[in-house]
Amino acid sequence: MASNITWHPNLTHSERSELRKQKGVTVWLTGLSASGKSTIACALEQSILARGLNSYRLDGDNIRFGLNKDLGFSEADRNENIRRISEVAKLFTDSCCITLTSFISPYKQDRQLARELHEKDNLPFIEVYVDVPVEVAEQRDPKGLYKKAREGIIKEFTGISAPYEAPEKPEIHLKNYSGVSVEESAEKIIDYLIDNKYI
Ligand code: PPS
Repeated sequence: MASNITWHPNLTHSERSELRKQKGVTVWLTGLSASGKSTIACALEQSILARGLNSYRLDGDNIRFGLNKDLGFSEADRNENIRRISEVAKLFTDSCCITLTSFISPYKQDRQLARELHEKDNLPFIEVYVDVPVEVAEQRDPKGLYKKAREGIIKEFTGISAPYEAPEKPEIHLKNYSGVSVEESAEKIIDYLIDNKYI
């Protein structure tokens, strides 16, 4: 961190949400590639916006076109990817947005850091495990990435040649396969947000 910098105090989150009439929350979706994270987050975003509330989706592929275009898929780069996204999500949430993140975020320690960063500032953080067995994800393979990973064309591919550390105690555990629709999965998250008075 640079020296000679000073933190400027601002409104607290509760003061801001009082004025804004909306609470912020980070909904952190984690799961394998092709588990359905982005599709569920899209459905959620639309459902929340349709209720007249603010929501924004930060997506793994998309963020790598801009903010994180200097990062690849080594363990160190994934750590940095998630560290930056955690900071960005925290800012969105502090601005009273319902922030939806859909990143593989394969390492427990990175997700724990994201949680701690939020909790340090009294900002809510909800971990959602989009659970799909790797065999199912590989069968879906919408982008043909699993095939390339099996052929060795893509290195360090999550679930094949790089690890995925499943959450042990996520706030929400979605089994997003065997006939469960995207709408049903999104609805479970909406129910959680309603039950906990975020929407
Ligand atoms: S991570 O692990 O959280 O840093 O990954 P993330 O930023 O979410 O990016 C995942 C998307 O990148 C594509 N992709 C790969 N995924 C995993 N491993 C490797 N090696 C890889 N190379 C490219 C892939 O499209 C992921 O998108 P999703 O939506 O998860 O399928």
